[in-house]
Amino acid sequence: MRKISFILLILILLCACAKTTDQVLEEMGYSLDEIDLIMTLSEENQNRFLDTYDEKLLGIVTNPSFKEENLDTYLKYYGEMDDELIFDFVNRDIINDNNHLQLKEIYESPYYVSGNEDLYFQYLGEYDDIRTMMEIVNTKRYLPLYENVEVSDTSYDYLLLVNKYYQLPSDYEPDDLVDIEGARHTVQIRSVVKDAFEELNKSANEAGYNLVIYSAYRSYAYQEGLYNKYLLTDSMENVDTYSARPGHSEHQSGLCLDVSLPGVDIDNFYMTEASKWLAENCYDYGFIIRYEEGKEDITGYQAEPWQIRYVGKDASKKIQEMGITFDEYWECFVRND
Ligand code: DAL
Repeated sequence: MRKISFILLILILLCACAKTTDQVLEEMGYSLDEIDLIMTLSEENQNRFLDTYDEKLLGIVTNPSFKEENLDTYLKYYGEMDDELIFDFVNRDIINDNNHLQLKEIYESPYYVSGNEDLYFQYLGEYDDIRTMMEIVNTKRYLPLYENVEVSDTSYDYLLLVNKYYQLPSDYEPDDLVDIEGARHTVQIRSVVKDAFEELNKSANEAGYNLVIYSAYRSYAYQEGLYNKYLLTDSMENVDTYSARPGHSEHQSGLCLDVSLPGVDIDNFYMTEASKWLAENCYDYGFIIRYEEGKEDITGYQAEPWQIRYVGKDASKKIQEMGITFDEYWECFVRND
């Protein structure tokens, strides 16, 4: 009888001493809200919290997108990229052992544009390398040209984008156009571009070249006339590789210039030493060569070594360093920045 009483006493004492899971969690430093949340999990998952105070695990279960059935998969990829992306990719069953390193590479790329994830994922297998795929997606070149055209946002000022997917309104005309001497007659250009061009040309002069302007600001109506004139003798498919459709020409922005040497037709400019000098030096004065050789698949135009576009010195230097088009620069570093 005494022996039974003794065993019962021991059992009662053991029960009194045993701590419940929530008590243990509290002692480990979890807050009451966190404990409430942990206690909604299965016993197996609750036990994961009992080894040590686990911030990573806590971060996962407290995320609003957390789904308990995906806990092991979150744990596998957590930290590889932005938490929200991990939760999105896991919840939609997109990320797996075969593609997580590619998704990480995309996320870590300087060309990653937030919001393009589904497109990157969609086109992942269609291009030889991730960089090419991202360039195509970033510049919308997965779409046929002139499809899904948006209105160019002129509030970006000298960083506005005009291309085959962004069009200026037909009545858009910059309000700070100024006269500048052209090769054949006086032309007009935005005043900030005039200042930058004069600085550029001063340096060109010192190097022995006198750059002259063959085309500057062109109105929508002028561009329309030019484009239609080309269509009289050439197919639309061809014309689209060298002339912009009305509203799609950077000339309407007043931010670009066609330059060459006196008496040298712009089509022959590429043969001159001045052309080489311009391609190497225009970036120091806030200009870029807008349609470069090797980028035809992105810009949609044949190379035009004579067309310089003013984008300001920060952008021009970054574009030169990165070796990218303004189209991609704009999508990656200007839009919504
Ligand atoms: N030549 C360029 C593409 C233009 O027409 O604006």
